[in-house]
Amino acid sequence: MQIRQITADERTDTMFPLQTYAFMPSPWTDAERETYARRMVYYRTATSLIAEEDGQALAGVGAFPMRQNVRGVVHGMAGVASVSSHPSARRRGLVRQLMTRLMRQMREQGSAVSALYPFRPSFYGRLGYVGIPRVRHAVFAPEGLSHLLRADLPGEVQRLQLSEGFDDYNALTLRLLEERHGFSVYDETRTAEFRESPSQWVAIARVGGEVVGAVTYRIDQYGGDLVAGDLLTTGPMGRALLLQFFARHVDQVARVRVKIGTDEVPELWGTDFAVHTEGRVEFPRRGGPMVRLLSIGALNGLQVGAEAGVTVEVVEDELLAGRYRLTGESGALTVEESTDQPQATLTCQGISALAYGVLDPVEVVTRGFGRVEAPAVEALGALFPTKMPYLFADF
Ligand SMILES: CC(C)(COP(=O)(O)OP(=O)(O)OC[C@H]1O[C@@H](n2cnc3c(N)ncnc32)[C@H](O)[C@@H]1OP(=O)(O)O)[C@@H](O)C(=O)NCCC(=O)NCCS
Repeated sequence: MQIRQITADERTDTMFPLQTYAFMPSPWTDAERETYARRMVYYRTATSLIAEEDGQALAGVGAFPMRQNVRGVVHGMAGVASVSSHPSARRRGLVRQLMTRLMRQMREQGSAVSALYPFRPSFYGRLGYVGIPRVRHAVFAPEGLSHLLRADLPGEVQRLQLSEGFDDYNALTLRLLEERHGFSVYDETRTAEFRESPSQWVAIARVGGEVVGAVTYRIDQYGGDLVAGDLLTTGPMGRALLLQFFARHVDQVARVRVKIGTDEVPELWGTDFAVHTEGRVEFPRRGGPMVRLLSIGALNGLQVGAEAGVTVEVVEDELLAGRYRLTGESGALTVEESTDQPQATLTCQGISALAYGVLDPVEVVTRGFGRVEAPAVEALGALFPTKMPYLFADF
């Protein structure tokens, strides 16, 4: 068996059959194969690796060069996708070997962190990934927001075809990349595919000409559902403008269904506001995303909760293993190698969970991601206060 990096064009003859067998209804048609081949122009900057034997591709993995905000620092992020192996080649360790090489290579190519959507989190847990929240959905009737119809808000909402509003929509995602913890975006090559994506509306909220919110959506039928994508806003005014826009669909649609992050509390959007908020996680579809650090240097510059210092040892991970002094000073974290006695021993999952703000030090211990001495619980909690990330991108 040999591992080989392939070009985007080679994916159609090697990875397409593996991926389509794994993820799609099959057997596939020639038309589906041709559609895949045409899409490969958007995969030119992705890194694709296959495991081959006697010229036959047995397994493949891929990663998009993306960017992600982790506690205020924008890092290169490897967005892992297209992970699949031939049924007769499964459980031979091929995907583990491919993933190990992919993570190393993506780090060399500038990705300090990585994210993916797992079919089964325990599989990727062995590779150092830890879970972060899955998006929620709020489902409500527009009349619940009728108070907003009477509100005189200092802004306006414009409805456009996504293809027309794409530049404004994309610019908002790039602004949120700088501002919102966990937010991630594709590079320009892959983003170009979304400009061409099937017909959708986008509602763009502006105050004084500045874009403060945007949401993509489609309406399935008169009296039916308005199905919206991520409710993207820079703050409460952007949200109020977009909700007011939804409220204007009273008597047109029965329900609005919109994607939200864990920091949204829809029952507080109105008085007498009936809403169903759902966060559903199932496998192999609808897994919550997972993340990991690929480089310990990714901790440098992260916004910290308080001044504190702690020495940790990261274990069981080829990319991160070592002993480090973590110091929070003037609101930012620095990390340097250390020979001091560690006050905490963490796996990659443990240190990644702290960096991403999804587990507190006690939970890191109870989840089996490390050991933390009593005084270090407070120091790690001060450096890494819980703060839920919102990934945004799907891949
Ligand atoms: C999931 C899949 C890619 C695994 O490929 P594979 O080549 O069998 O994986 P490996 O043999 O390298 O296994 C790696 C590790 O995961 C474990 N593992 C494999 N399948 C697993 C499963 N279904 N659940 C939990 N662990 C699993 C292996 O035991 C091994 O553990 P170890 O390294 O600690 O010994 C393959 O089964 C597949 O293509 N499935 C359908 C498509 C899919 O679900 N892809 C993942 C999308 S996120």
